[in-house]
Amino acid sequence: MVSRTGIAFFVAFVLLGLPLTLIAAGGGDELARLQSAYRRPAKIPFPADNPYTNAKSSLGKMLFFDPRLSGSRTISCSTCHLPTRSWSDGLSHARGEDPAGMTLRSPTLIDVAFVEPLGWDGKFHDIEDVTFSPISSRLNMNMPKAELLTRLAAVPGYVSAFTEAFGDGAITTQRIEQALATYERTIVAGDAPFDRWIRGDKKAISAEAKRGFLLFNGKARCSGCHSGPSFTDGSFQDIGTATGNDIGRGRLFPNSEKLRYAFKTPTLRDIARRPPYMHDGSVATLQDVIELYNKGGIDRPSRSPLIKPLFLTTDEKADLIAFLQTLTGSSPPEKPPALPE
Ligand code: HEC
Ligand code: HEC
Repeated sequence: MVSRTGIAFFVAFVLLGLPLTLIAAGGGDELARLQSAYRRPAKIPFPADNPYTNAKSSLGKMLFFDPRLSGSRTISCSTCHLPTRSWSDGLSHARGEDPAGMTLRSPTLIDVAFVEPLGWDGKFHDIEDVTFSPISSRLNMNMPKAELLTRLAAVPGYVSAFTEAFGDGAITTQRIEQALATYERTIVAGDAPFDRWIRGDKKAISAEAKRGFLLFNGKARCSGCHSGPSFTDGSFQDIGTATGNDIGRGRLFPNSEKLRYAFKTPTLRDIARRPPYMHDGSVATLQDVIELYNKGGIDRPSRSPLIKPLFLTTDEKADLIAFLQTLTGSSPPEKPPALPE
């Protein structure tokens, strides 16, 4: 005789598919294993040659928010990496001193400490390495190095802040890089409903979002690239969208077929708060992102084998979006510091 519960489980098995049924039946080992892969690391990694200090980080914070770092004194790092917009700017193309704008979208700085190399094409080896690219670029902050050093040295508040951070008041390009990078490494994802759920609060996210998490790690294959606590494995991939000369990492590795059209896999932390999406801001909403992956992108030799039609149902698409919405951190945005005079 087959018991009623036995039949009920059999029906559930047929309706929901194996993984969900196992998990629903209390065999939560697989779910626990999946969840543990996304647990936040205990510490921010600071490199041995630029260790964390309070003084360096608060100097870095002042520099980050200070428009005097740009030629016109109107643009700071925080013009494009805004704390109120999850450290991005909401634009499809970054806009610096040149009104023509830039070809790339400003990426979020959330979790940058964990995702080196940096830049959409990975051209920056580490965070220190990013500093003078935005500062000196004519399109961006348009500020020659030498002029910046003179300008900062004329501000007594900076001379004392450099003294506190480095032992003497010399203002050098390396010290600017080190202070800014130290501050940027402190920009980490805020605690999100998803984090509370994997810590054991069963009610922290909805049933839709829980199904979405399983899809993310299963049928939809998202975790093949967006894995780990920052939701990126740091790899460079062609997801089948860029065209023409927009070849991403292919520019650095012209002989690699796989890296043609490959871009850095971005973090998905705070993703619902920071449209538009992709390196060129070409995708307006999360719904559109899901549709794009569902179609599978342009079939070509460089495209990742993980990217192909997914055949997601309308409900599955909604579940994935519900899951992505649980990645929004709840801490209030960082306040700009008082700038030195
Ligand atoms: C005009 C807008 C703009 C300004 C101002 C700006 N950035 Fe950016 N930032 C960008 C864009 C666009 C990229 C992507 C560049 C690339 O991929 O080559 C970027 C990339 C970065 C990255 C790499 C992030 C990653 O995940 O790859 C870091 C770090 C960064 N910026 C820090 C800074 C700092 C520090 C400043 C100030 C000194 C600054 N930015 C000023 C637009 C801006
Ligand atoms: C083969 C690796 C890979 C897989 C699989 C993958 N992604 Fe991505 N994802 C990327 C890369 C690379 C980008 C950046 C592409 C670009 O900028 O043009 C990206 C961008 C995104 C973005 C925009 C992020 C931003 O800051 O602009 C979202 C949202 C996203 N992916 C969600 C998903 C979801 C949901 C899935 C599963 C349906 C998925 N990804 C599967 C590699 C992948």
